[in-house]
Amino acid sequence: MRTRSRITLRRALVSALLLTTSAALPLPAQTTPSRPVPNKQLASRELNAKVDALLRKMTLEEKIGQLVQFSAGFATGPGSEGKNQRFDEMVEKGQVGSFLNVVGADATNHYQHIAMEKSRLHIPILFGLDVIHGHRTTFPIPLAVAASFDPAMGELVARTGAEEARADGVPWVFSPMVDIARDARWGRIIESNGEDPFLSSAMARAWVRGYQQGDLSKPESVAVSVKHYAAYGAAIAGRDYNATDMSQITLRQVYLKPYQAAVEEGAATLMSSFNSINGVPATANPLTLDKILRKEWGFDGFVVSDWGAVGELINHSIGDGPTVARKALTAGVEMDMEGNLYGTTIAAQVRSGKISESVIDEAARRVLRVKFALGLFEHPFAQPSAPYQPTDEKRARTRKVADESIVLLKNDPVEAAGTLLPLKDKNKTVALIGPMADDQADLLGAWAAGDPKYVVTLRKALEEKLGADHVLFAQGCGLLNGQDAQIWAKNGGPQPVADENATINEAVEAAKKADVALVALGEPAGFMEGEAGSRVNLGFTGNQQKLLEDVVATGKPVILLVAAGRPLEIKWAAEHVPAILEAWSPGHEAGHAIVDILSGDVNPSAKLPASLPRAVGQEPLYYAQMPTGRPARNADLSHMPANSEEKYLSRYVDEQNSALFPFGWGLSYTTFGYSNPTVDRASIPVREVMASGHKSLVKVGVDVRNTGSVAGTEVVQLYMRIPNVSVEQPLRELKGFTRVTLNPGESKHVEFPIGFDEMNFYNVDLRQVVEPTTYDLWVGGSSLADAHTTLKVVE
Ligand code: NOJ
Repeated sequence: MRTRSRITLRRALVSALLLTTSAALPLPAQTTPSRPVPNKQLASRELNAKVDALLRKMTLEEKIGQLVQFSAGFATGPGSEGKNQRFDEMVEKGQVGSFLNVVGADATNHYQHIAMEKSRLHIPILFGLDVIHGHRTTFPIPLAVAASFDPAMGELVARTGAEEARADGVPWVFSPMVDIARDARWGRIIESNGEDPFLSSAMARAWVRGYQQGDLSKPESVAVSVKHYAAYGAAIAGRDYNATDMSQITLRQVYLKPYQAAVEEGAATLMSSFNSINGVPATANPLTLDKILRKEWGFDGFVVSDWGAVGELINHSIGDGPTVARKALTAGVEMDMEGNLYGTTIAAQVRSGKISESVIDEAARRVLRVKFALGLFEHPFAQPSAPYQPTDEKRARTRKVADESIVLLKNDPVEAAGTLLPLKDKNKTVALIGPMADDQADLLGAWAAGDPKYVVTLRKALEEKLGADHVLFAQGCGLLNGQDAQIWAKNGGPQPVADENATINEAVEAAKKADVALVALGEPAGFMEGEAGSRVNLGFTGNQQKLLEDVVATGKPVILLVAAGRPLEIKWAAEHVPAILEAWSPGHEAGHAIVDILSGDVNPSAKLPASLPRAVGQEPLYYAQMPTGRPARNADLSHMPANSEEKYLSRYVDEQNSALFPFGWGLSYTTFGYSNPTVDRASIPVREVMASGHKSLVKVGVDVRNTGSVAGTEVVQLYMRIPNVSVEQPLRELKGFTRVTLNPGESKHVEFPIGFDEMNFYNVDLRQVVEPTTYDLWVGGSSLADAHTTLKVVE
């Protein structure tokens, strides 16, 4: 299904191109454009006949009711409109089509019984919920899952979340979040797949597959809501909910890619975002919601607004309540989440002729399609389930994902003793220090529905591994201090540490007594990360930096573990600490997974999905930079000295341009060598690429060898540059990745198929084209890959 629909889409694009650029290109034979069908279930004739038959029976008010959603449980946004509603009565009258934040068989069945037994047309309620990195079983945060560069991990997280959510009466999840996130100041980077459109698209497809299982009617699948459409991750200055402003080329070539991939994979619904895009709010944006999503991508599902976003259009200054409701609905937002405007203002506007009833029919049709496809009419009720217990099998799933998501950033040799990691000698004593060392809630991460009590702490796992007598624990300090800590405590955080000078001294003493110090630092997940978690300081919070510096000053070898939901600024640590792990927020199996990596039971394989900055002033920071007329001396921007006297260059005078650790970066306990980068065709005509659909045409190959002494898995990455074409292209873009496991001394030939999908770019007429030029290709283990070859694209 997927391949065929992608080919149809491709044909439509080629045909559109042929009609408009005939003068510029040699033309292949013209193909007939046909509408893509990304989700065959939603497009099926049989299903639509059922929907239409139902629609014919519905009153205007009942149709509008399908477009109304309220939170009938806890609030996940400000000023819950749901609070003052009489939900039982509304459900009975068909005035509400969906609830969010109602979980569990009892709670969902309560409303579903009213809908199915007391409402006139017996239309089931659709229950939606934020299932972000698992439901009861909590996995690493999505940014960490992306660090695995393994779509199978995204699929596993989503599949597990789907099984558990559905068992809890929830057939619709507000996930995956696929916003490109290039600014670490933006707290919601934790929910994203990071900075790159290629990686993010691959993960987006995987999460959709895992949730929807290719068939919405399966009892263990759920409908997704891909969010936040669109370009929410480009909030100016990294400030949540802020406007975005970018060229149409960047919008299409970078920011829209993952949403498009998710739609092609069959995503049943999308969620519109809070931001405006180039001056037009995304929740009332005909370009993104109608022209692109429906007309170009052929989307047959529906769009729900984000929490209160329809009402917030008043603040965006595009009209009063009735006007903004009309604008959102006619642009293509079918469901009003917590805005309380569709239910109260649309009917009158239909009656006065301001809105055509056909708009309401189409909107209700889209919502009903999803309800039918999910099988809710036949199986509306949830079965009561036993209270949640994390089984061994579930724990094994989360541990596997966490094992693949922890990035070894640095592992320098310490004098003659070699590297600190892996911790080979079990008889050594480890001083385990820092606020993340024995923490549960923060290792779970933001947006976690699972219970923190099931988190295996690092302390517990390390004591299990080494024996409690080999672990000297000293927390050292809290994640926050001063006023921040007081505010956090009032909001459910831990009580502040009373005298941090004393506790930091205890930690220093523990380090002195031990053979090695393991310092586990991070960020308060539920407080400073995720939604509304924007920060202008990206260093360690509270007294953690002081704690680290004091422990390093003991002269004992130090391993730093960073547990955070965003790239933090860790420049001092990178200069003074020999071994650093980025563990993100690993979820329920946090401690076990971290110890798997520390001990070498698992050889780290993860890579950074987002660049780590040297200084916050570099943000937004990403590897796919555009060329400049005054480049810093080295094309890869990595070696520019901060104090160079050379002026008039595109650089900072007080810091290097490059990331501290760039996108794609991650070490292993072994090493890998790359040789013989090749293409299997030296040149290829434009015409052939343009006419090839989604087929691959050229194979980029490379030999990868394990040059170290232990087995390991490498994420082999392909980067491309398209120089000398009509629109400037980035200096490098990821175009392929794959995980390869090699024994010591073993080599494998790895191939990346590329074709139109990887080779096209948007020209100034917003057409996807390929132009004659010589493509640069690099293969390697990070965005600094240097095994180079070229591919000629000729007239
Ligand atoms: C607001 C968030 O932006 C969104 O991601 C979430 O799904 C909704 N609230 C519902 O909780």
